[in-house]
Amino acid sequence: MPAEPEGEIMSDVFAGKIAIVTGGTSGIGYAVSEELLKRGATVWVIGSRQESVEKAKASFTAYTNARFAAVDVTVADQVKGMIDTCVREDGRLDYLFNNAGIGMTHPSGYLTLDMWKKAIDLNLWGVIYGIHYALPVMLAQKSGHIVNTSSIAGILPLPSQAVYCATKYAVSGMTESLRYEFAEAGIVFTSICPANVATAIFGKAGVPKEAIPAEEAARTILDGVAKKEACVILPAFAEQLYERLANDPVLKEKFMLEYARRRNEGWRSGVAYLGIPEDMLDMQR
Ligand SMILES: NC(=O)c1ccc[n+]([C@@H]2O[C@H](COP(=O)([O-])OP(=O)(O)OC[C@H]3O[C@@H](n4cnc5c(N)ncnc54)[C@H](OP(=O)(O)O)[C@@H]3O)[C@@H](O)[C@H]2O)c1
Repeated sequence: MPAEPEGEIMSDVFAGKIAIVTGGTSGIGYAVSEELLKRGATVWVIGSRQESVEKAKASFTAYTNARFAAVDVTVADQVKGMIDTCVREDGRLDYLFNNAGIGMTHPSGYLTLDMWKKAIDLNLWGVIYGIHYALPVMLAQKSGHIVNTSSIAGILPLPSQAVYCATKYAVSGMTESLRYEFAEAGIVFTSICPANVATAIFGKAGVPKEAIPAEEAARTILDGVAKKEACVILPAFAEQLYERLANDPVLKEKFMLEYARRRNEGWRSGVAYLGIPEDMLDMQR
């Protein structure tokens, strides 16, 4: 697939395009939906709960190009219905953002099988269903772009996140493999690997102080998607950290052991240790 021409105005890339954003009612997905709406796309804003969908609807009244639906992405038929409805009403599907997901940072010895299942159903099967039903539509169109939200935990093995890593490494690997397979068919695949974005995902433990606002994350994500990048890692500190660790296995081991030590200590003292702390970023081997 040829890259977008140099110097193209990014805001034009999405104008007039039809997009679906799962998990569009909160956090990163909400901010991506709003940014897409601002850049002129028609956006299907998807949440699983009617209540969150109604709330998003109430806050997006200024946009006539916003559509809304309650869809549980862990249910294959509902995902099929979401894509069928979009194509029936808007004629095509240019972008599918498989973004809905849950976090899971937990001492792995205490995970229940229900926790594994819940995370895999949503973070992995939700993405698989989206790809499965969007691909035939995009292949018939001979164009389309599927954007799957992975995580920094989809490219780095963060301790106490074994179940989350299992889902997100799968999303990253699947997305990259599909990107090469479907390039000649004109379908683009991008994975998004955020770290520390201020959203509800952190729950009662609270947002880490290093977290960036979801609006900033959305602009970075859409700039990368507009350029058809393979993988968008954000914020900048996470991208730099990833590059340092990926290129230095000794440092990576040291970093992960220290991170595990801090998290294990946190569990023992009853304090969840979330996010990637600033003071570990410049660790040397
Ligand atoms: N925030 C971060 O620092 C961070 C870092 C790495 C990766 N991520 C990834 O980014 C994505 C978005 O996370 P976020 O931080 O924006 O979380 P969030 O604010 O908690 O939003 C989650 C969204 O997913 C939706 N959702 C949950 N279960 C669903 C289901 N079964 N079907 C359809 N939608 C469902 C929620 O809608 P309802 O409430 O209506 O269910 C909500 O809109 C996730 O894939 C997450 O793993 C986030």
